[in-house]
Amino acid sequence: MKQFEKRILFDSDAIAVRVKELGAEISAKYPEGNLLFIGVLKGSFMFLADLVRHVTVPCCLDFVRISSYGNDTVSSGKLDILMDIRLPVKDRNVILVDDIVDTGLTLSEYRKRLEKESPRSLEIAALIDKIARRERHVELDYCGFRVEEGFLVGHGLDCDERFRHLDGIYVLE
Ligand code: PRP
Repeated sequence: MKQFEKRILFDSDAIAVRVKELGAEISAKYPEGNLLFIGVLKGSFMFLADLVRHVTVPCCLDFVRISSYGNDTVSSGKLDILMDIRLPVKDRNVILVDDIVDTGLTLSEYRKRLEKESPRSLEIAALIDKIARRERHVELDYCGFRVEEGFLVGHGLDCDERFRHLDGIYVLE
């Protein structure tokens, strides 16, 4: 198996502090609840699990599995919806949650699909906003950390399916 050198970028304590802040921000913004969190699998699983534990208003969860990369490191430019949500979006306060925004393709395209289903509101939360390769504009309402570039792994982020389980976020060197 290929070996990688990896350098810590955000440790678990820093992530925990930031995610708690985001959960509090969301809870304060939606006192009436009616929230539907939609996690984009697989990468969002850890961020979403952390985030919703800090949400103090009524909410539901659903998941979509989208792949735009396959096993490649370059986006194919085409969205592949492997599994879609089952809960209705209409009249819900929807928050789309992902681990990272890179080119912006995944969230910008999936957001368009959700908009057609008449949510009451639609916002996006991402743990990492990586801006160097942005091709599509994505309005990020809740952002954990902004980074310029680098191949990031950990806390849901993978390299060829490895490293997702790591608590911190690392850059591969
Ligand atoms: C990753 C990540 C985001 C997307 C971001 O998912 O989890 O969903 O890429 O990239 P973009 O902004 O360039 O679209 P990936 O397709 O690798 O699947 P995964 O979540 O299963 O790792």
